[in-house]
Amino acid sequence: MDDGTAVLRDTDTGAGTVAEAAPQPDRASQRPGSALHITGLNKRYDSGFRALEDVDLDIRHGEIFALLGPNGAGKTTLISIVCGLVTASGGTVAVDGHDIEREFRAARSRIGLVPQELATDAFAKVHATVTYSRGLFGKPPSPAIVERVLRDLSLWDKRDERLMNLSGGMKRRVMIAKALVHEPRILFLDEPTAGVDVELRREMWELVRRLRDDGVTIILTTHYIEEAEEMADRVGVISQGRIIVVEHTTELMRQLGRKQLTLHLQHALEAVPPSLHAFGLELSGGGRELTYTYDDTSDRAHIPELLRALDAAGIVFRDLHTQQSSLEDIFVRLVRDSNP
Ligand SMILES: Nc1ncnc2c1ncn2[C@@H]1O[C@H](COP(=O)(O)OP(=O)(O)OP(=O)(O)O)[C@@H](O)[C@H]1O
Ligand SMILES: [Mg+2]
Repeated sequence: MDDGTAVLRDTDTGAGTVAEAAPQPDRASQRPGSALHITGLNKRYDSGFRALEDVDLDIRHGEIFALLGPNGAGKTTLISIVCGLVTASGGTVAVDGHDIEREFRAARSRIGLVPQELATDAFAKVHATVTYSRGLFGKPPSPAIVERVLRDLSLWDKRDERLMNLSGGMKRRVMIAKALVHEPRILFLDEPTAGVDVELRREMWELVRRLRDDGVTIILTTHYIEEAEEMADRVGVISQGRIIVVEHTTELMRQLGRKQLTLHLQHALEAVPPSLHAFGLELSGGGRELTYTYDDTSDRAHIPELLRALDAAGIVFRDLHTQQSSLEDIFVRLVRDSNP
């Protein structure tokens, strides 16, 4: 067993603890096994380019998992392999316990995919194309399910429209309808909200939550970090084909969320007094701002000490505020640290 697996195992253990403490029940733990189980996945394209290197990943049933990574990190490649659109060079992938090579049909029928690139037949009509998608998976026709999906996506009024007459956001909704109409248990959304307006993005988020509440496992890639922060139960960060970290969103924020405490001083200082050097303070704002940077886990305990030391040095502050790094900051730091 290699290091990557060990890391994921650690995460699993930690996740259990967090889930117990979290107000939301961890739906994911209610079913045994993994929705998606990936081990040692490699992809080398014909060009020789290595797009994925030894990826291990476990996605639990019913969770919303966000895959974050810069352009070219390998997100679409990973999803394409799971969906059978790209062949892996090595490793194994099981969807709901079904190997994607040996049991392709069983694996594929459990998956819905909303691809990053919207390839649609411009002349097709909404209702027909969604109905056809269901048939592709060998599911019996069901006008009721087609209607429900179209209504859920506010497409019912457009059902007889040709795709070329729809707006970009509506076309994206049709892609989602096509991905949902065969009732998949695992839904991949590759950059679902790229280029959609704020309102549609909100709608998408609501839809994703509704699906999750119905027990669908959601794996999404996004460049909008606030999306992962708001939506995802867990986040996986991928860079240059490697998974750098997999963690509960809240835990990631807690562990890596660097915090800053800024004190606005009554009187400007020329320099930080020697008695305060140990705190690594930063003086700015013309000598009127002192900033203390700390990690939430270890250094927090030093704050009372710092305040006492300030008092002893006769430094009076009139205001203070704290700031926490966003997932965006964390992400940038992780990628930078892993590519020195
Ligand atoms: N068919 C292909 N042949 C050769 N290289 C490819 C092929 N498809 C993708 N790649 C390369 O593999 C790498 C990963 O691409 P991929 O599309 O998986 O990235 P991504 O993380 O989805 O990026 P983005 O955020 O831009 O969508 C890129 O460097 C890309 O150029
Ligand atoms: Mg992509």
